[in-house]
Amino acid sequence: MKNVAIYANKINQLKNPIYGFNGIDSIDMNDVPIFCGLVETKDIQFDKNSLQNQFKVLVKKTAFSCNYRDKAIIFEATIKSPEDSFFVVGSDFVGEVVDIGSEVIGLKIGDRVIANNAYPESGVPGVIAGIPSNSESKEYQVFHQVKLMKIPRQIPDEVAAAFSIGAQTSYSIVRKLNPTKGANILVTAAKSNTSLFVINALKKYDVNIYATTTSKLFEDELKALGVKEVILVDSKANSLLENQSIQKIAAKTGGFNCVFDPFFDLYLEQVVQLMAIGGKYITCGIYDQYCELINQPFTPSSSNLNRVISYVMTNNLEIIGNCIGLTEDLQNAIQDYISGDLKVIIDSVFTGNQIGAFFERTYNAKDRFGKVVYKYD
Ligand SMILES: NC(=O)c1ccc[n+]([C@@H]2O[C@H](COP(=O)([O-])OP(=O)(O)OC[C@H]3O[C@@H](n4cnc5c(N)ncnc54)[C@H](OP(=O)(O)O)[C@@H]3O)[C@@H](O)[C@H]2O)c1
Repeated sequence: MKNVAIYANKINQLKNPIYGFNGIDSIDMNDVPIFCGLVETKDIQFDKNSLQNQFKVLVKKTAFSCNYRDKAIIFEATIKSPEDSFFVVGSDFVGEVVDIGSEVIGLKIGDRVIANNAYPESGVPGVIAGIPSNSESKEYQVFHQVKLMKIPRQIPDEVAAAFSIGAQTSYSIVRKLNPTKGANILVTAAKSNTSLFVINALKKYDVNIYATTTSKLFEDELKALGVKEVILVDSKANSLLENQSIQKIAAKTGGFNCVFDPFFDLYLEQVVQLMAIGGKYITCGIYDQYCELINQPFTPSSSNLNRVISYVMTNNLEIIGNCIGLTEDLQNAIQDYISGDLKVIIDSVFTGNQIGAFFERTYNAKDRFGKVVYKYD
């Protein structure tokens, strides 16, 4: 079976006869050389009659994608893995059910499935909540049935392969924000996939969306998604507070009622100073997931907790954390996609031996807008 893998930086394919290497691509990520490629491994055996597989499902993947979280995993696999080893990556997928255990209900052979990352509960005691695997590009993989969500034919493979994490997280975020009609909502890092999902999930609500971004390349596209104003910010400390446009919007509107911020270590301390009394701030992520690992400096701009909490307290703000979402959030997103109320933005699709190109586009392309997907032939 095929796998999309990151090789340890000390790799010598001739020394390792067990696996079928289909060539190695090399790209630089944050100036770190990354070696990657397609790896053939032995097919996995699935005994559908065994007791331990009674609730399990064997899935054959057709496509997968990566997220920001995989970047730290890629650096870890590159720098820390033993010589001549590789790590199979991927955190979103679509596949087809090819076999099922004796007690599986609700899924049958031939169904198309994506991951159900339900968190904080998986729905079955003893089955871990959240993302089922950090290696979701494995062509064949066994999952507990509760970790899978059946999807209808109307969702094409390239969308389904980019759906679970963004959709489940953004629907949870919007549910927690529960925006009222006319609310002024700020979305930071607008071009991040999570922010794009949130902007698209807000489409059903009659709200004013303002978005910050470090590049105005996609201003027209963001406006077409319903963003009222796109604000260009520098990629440096205090970029929001020094920005005249955002200060003017905050002054004109009386401050933002809701903020979605995928990188709290970049923006939290600044945005609490731009919010309306009683506003809600929600975050699901941190920018610095790998800087220490690759020995590169990072100075968080939201480091002054006293200042943050002072603003939170005196302005009656709510600070909300969000990790992925519930099964119902994913179901609602699927329903909205089918009814045309949720758009999923796909940047590009790669296949065959285009492994280096897939990672280059996912993590390095300044002009990426939306998810990058890899499809098996
Ligand atoms: N906890 C959860 O359940 C969960 C789920 C999903 C995502 N997340 C988190 O959400 C965050 C975003 O993930 P993602 O996959 O959506 O990310 P992504 O698509 O890789 O985000 C890339 C975007 O981040 C911004 N950016 C990149 N480098 C920057 C820099 N040096 N300074 C300022 N902005 C920079 C840029 O947007 P602009 O140019 O538009 O500013 C860029 O387009 C991550 O922290 C991730 O871990 C968490």
